[in-house]
Amino acid sequence: MFYKNIIRPLLFRLSRKDPETAHHLVITLLALMGKHRTSCQLVSTLWGTKPEKKLERTAMGLKFPHPVLLAAGFDKNALAIRMLAEIFGGVEIGTVTNEPQIGNPRPRMFRLSEDEALINRMGFNNDGATQVAERLAEILKGGQLKVPLGISFGKNKDTPANNIDAVIDNHLEGFRKLARFANYAVLNCASPNTPDLRTLLERGPLGSLIEEVQKTKRSLGLASLPLVVKLSPDMDWDQIEAALEVCNQFGVAGIIAANTSLGRESLKSSTRSEIGGLSGAPIYHRALELVRHVRKELPNICVIGSGGINSPERATRMLDFGADLIQIYTGFVYEGPSFVRSITQAI
Ligand SMILES: Cc1cc2nc3c(=O)[nH]c(=O)nc-3n(C[C@H](O)[C@H](O)[C@H](O)COP(=O)(O)O)c2cc1C
Repeated sequence: MFYKNIIRPLLFRLSRKDPETAHHLVITLLALMGKHRTSCQLVSTLWGTKPEKKLERTAMGLKFPHPVLLAAGFDKNALAIRMLAEIFGGVEIGTVTNEPQIGNPRPRMFRLSEDEALINRMGFNNDGATQVAERLAEILKGGQLKVPLGISFGKNKDTPANNIDAVIDNHLEGFRKLARFANYAVLNCASPNTPDLRTLLERGPLGSLIEEVQKTKRSLGLASLPLVVKLSPDMDWDQIEAALEVCNQFGVAGIIAANTSLGRESLKSSTRSEIGGLSGAPIYHRALELVRHVRKELPNICVIGSGGINSPERATRMLDFGADLIQIYTGFVYEGPSFVRSITQAI
């Protein structure tokens, strides 16, 4: 209530012209607080979930204290992971590219408040693998995170998507710098904001990319690092079928269903025609459908449901539909930090 009645209106008003301002403010605050043990304890008391056996999940060989994870894109540069690990059952950073990128010009994040949604065209803005690796080394000097850390990998914009050898080299360069910090690694070829990125979800390129990343894992002594592939909600059933086949063939441990959508059906907000990926409430049913499908097709894989979870009911439904774990981003923005605990209480 305090968040929805006081903090959210303040944050939203402050960043009416550019919602990204509020985002940076929150990340900066969380990063600062994460440096102090007492503020971590405070956040844990206010918004954390008390460890309970019934909430624990083992997936991809990893132990999650509860199944509500932070989705990629919120803390792209791993600035606030200590604090976020007090709230979430797992934290995914990135998407990180090998070279740093400034992303698209601002504004590039838009609120669709009437629809409880966001549109973003960030374009993989991030500090790059070298700097994120240095940051992780520094932060983790103070001890491992209390929850699994996922790292999402993507390609740089200037690496042509139609040159698969270049795409693989670009991924592997970043992967070699960062993989040792990850508890699981994600290949994100599903963002709509990098030109032609999603062509990498087709059978041929996806298979080659996964195969080379798996080989590199072994050469780095990280054979057991679980590899996860993120799907796009805009793929048709044939594309999904092909992607799942290669994921299965090359030993992928998990599937995230799914990223943001280019769809714009029945939206009310005036910002609905902005270019970019739609997240939040309107994409829930598609994400749910994908979760159910992946669970049916690949019964032994870890399914991570992502898209439009904005209530404990939606969260538990996604788990009932076969998700082992769920991730949230937009729901966190609209519902606030206590949202995670309201979900874990409903499980
Ligand atoms: C502003 C913003 C930036 C995002 N950046 C990334 C990203 O870098 N990598 C990624 O895999 N997903 C990214 N996502 C997608 C989220 O991880 C998530 O899959 C999607 O938003 C659906 O979940 P939600 O409806 O709970 O937000 C981003 C989403 C938003 C809103």
